[in-house]
Amino acid sequence: MNNLTPILDTLNDYLSKDPVRMHVPFHSGIINNEIFPPEIYNIDISEVSGYDVIGEDNPIYQSEKITADFFNASHSFYLTGGASIGLLASMMVLNKYGKKVLLARNVHKSVINGMILAGLEPIWLDVDFLDEWGIFSKINPSKLEDLIEKNNDIAGCVIVSPTYEGVVSDIRRISIICHKKNIPLIVDEAHGGHLCFLKEDSRAELSALKCGADIVIQSWHKSLGSLTQSGVLHLTNENFFTYYDLKRSLDLVSSTSPSFLLLLSLELTRKHIAETKGDFLKLLIDKARLFRNNINEIKQISLFQNEDPFKIYLRSNSSSGIDLAYELYKNYSIEVESANEIGLLMMIGRSFTEEIGEQIVRAIEKSSNRIELLGLRSEQNRFSSQSSILNPQFSILNSQSSILNPSSSSLREAFILGFRKERSVEYNYDVVAPCPPGYATSIPGVKEGDYAN
Ligand SMILES: Cc1ncc(COP(=O)(O)O)c(C=O)c1O
Repeated sequence: MNNLTPILDTLNDYLSKDPVRMHVPFHSGIINNEIFPPEIYNIDISEVSGYDVIGEDNPIYQSEKITADFFNASHSFYLTGGASIGLLASMMVLNKYGKKVLLARNVHKSVINGMILAGLEPIWLDVDFLDEWGIFSKINPSKLEDLIEKNNDIAGCVIVSPTYEGVVSDIRRISIICHKKNIPLIVDEAHGGHLCFLKEDSRAELSALKCGADIVIQSWHKSLGSLTQSGVLHLTNENFFTYYDLKRSLDLVSSTSPSFLLLLSLELTRKHIAETKGDFLKLLIDKARLFRNNINEIKQISLFQNEDPFKIYLRSNSSSGIDLAYELYKNYSIEVESANEIGLLMMIGRSFTEEIGEQIVRAIEKSSNRIELLGLRSEQNRFSSQSSILNPQFSILNSQSSILNPSSSSLREAFILGFRKERSVEYNYDVVAPCPPGYATSIPGVKEGDYAN
């Protein structure tokens, strides 16, 4: 079953007819063009006549079902607008149970956008911020439990695990706490699509899919190797939501022209993982371990201990992450994933090898020595825009009562107030979240300065 490919079959069938293309997309599969290789145009179709696009016979639904079966989910919806679309739809579906949503402080901006669109009200869950590293820590289950005890009518709980920097929360415990009060748990696992395949050290237990979450949203382009903007929303069970609840919510926010290129890349990624049993991920773990060990040997460098083996977050005791990243880029053409005033993040991807690891370790060593010796401070450089994520005001929302302007108790109201000509300077109206990492530094209705402890 796992090697079935309804989307690829549909595409091949379509191509085998060499059809005269009197339909969108406008490029019509052109052969002579000066932009992309012709093969890309040839397979870039969307829904085309002659193939079912609704109902259970359509290839997308069929392929999703096979993927769901593989992941042991009730249904796995393909997303062609990234995990962001899955998160928007997940906020919409929470309207089934009410308005109040328990939100971790470090949710991605698409969650806040979804709250605005869906007209929901946040109950903010404080997440510890590790000042010495400049990143968020795990969700504290006791804090979550306290909030649930204090608030009635919670429609759902939304958290992110793993974080951008690879910090995984105790989803098993969190799901038990939520379910005791009949609250659905939604986990943004955008960065963790690979976690359920890391069998070594029981790492598979790191995935929300295995730990009781009700909806899990994954960005496969970030963590499994499909094309950019492809992702999957797994409805793990039907205890709270049905297939149709999610389908109609996704329809509200999705394009009516899903890209076959993206759909195909999801289908073939699933097929590849199923056929290889995720072996390539296990091989990468060994290389990642060696890489970490070698980085640990560099005297100026401290390595952050996280749960995701493919996220390497480190800091230097002689420079900021931005300066180190700039040195690596300028002198060694090494592009890191991101950097901030404290640390820098690298992601181990499919093409990582031991040789690349050794090359990076040497480059970090030399750069750290150079910075230490010369006391370099970077000039204005291409990484500096990311420094705003460590704006001193960017800390934890202190107490729930103080974060909302009483006159605009919902994010949506506060957002709409932002369209008025005379704007109060006292409150924010916009969602501002430098991406990456996508944590909000401005939230509609939140008073300026209330981010500080
Ligand atoms: C934690 C988190 N959730 C969701 C998203 C959105 O994912 P996508 O880019 O696939 O829409 C991101 C993207 O940066 C993210 O970091």
